[in-house]
Amino acid sequence: MTRRPWVIVPAAGSGQRMQADRPKQYLPLAGSHVLALTIERLLCLQPQALVLVLAADDPYRYHDAAAPLIYAQGGAERCHSVWAGLQALSGHAQDDDIVLVHDAARPCVRVRDLIALWQIVGDEPNGALLAAPVRDTMKKADADGHITATVSRERLWHALTPQGFRYADLCAVLEQTLTAGQLPGDEASAFEWLGRAPRLLAGAPDNIKITYPEDHALAAAILRAQQENGA
Ligand code: C5P
Repeated sequence: MTRRPWVIVPAAGSGQRMQADRPKQYLPLAGSHVLALTIERLLCLQPQALVLVLAADDPYRYHDAAAPLIYAQGGAERCHSVWAGLQALSGHAQDDDIVLVHDAARPCVRVRDLIALWQIVGDEPNGALLAAPVRDTMKKADADGHITATVSRERLWHALTPQGFRYADLCAVLEQTLTAGQLPGDEASAFEWLGRAPRLLAGAPDNIKITYPEDHALAAAILRAQQENGA
């Protein structure tokens, strides 16, 4: 029987683009706050433990006695924080165990997408991630905002999270890329850099990452709609 997953939640960003009075993962949302809602969704997978990667100067230090939490201290970039989360699993996770990495700032991830990813990731040699097909016509621009090209949206996807991989594999891949001076923006791009191709799994596009101030109201509306229609 497949062992339950481990989940790493990088939550050590400063969230400067939100221009808020606190890190965005602690902004109030839907009667709770962003990080608590994200963790609540992830717990549906009954993870062996959830590694919460917090900034050294995190003023709130999220705590939930009912959740199987392990703490780690984040680094300068998201990839460093994920690396710290992987280190915290050393001695806990087995090489073949699945580790899912999910942004703290994505509280709208749907339970059915989490389960769908969990069901396929173990069969994927290069791991898998939730993603959403691009809908709009895509333009490339110069520094002044003038179009230089139209990029075909055929087979173009938005990479979302969670992204899931075997523990030892993700450790080896991330270590190799970081040692080479790369700063992968997500785990999949570390694999890609080594010529490997993780699998994209179509998930709901409302799994947004709260990044800019307007995303906060959008996330609240998404959560309301999900509550009415079932997430
Ligand atoms: O900044 P961005 O929105 O891309 O961050 C995505 C996720 O990575 C957030 O949950 C954020 O808290 C986390 N992060 C981190 N350590 C950093 C930067 C971002 O854990 N140094």
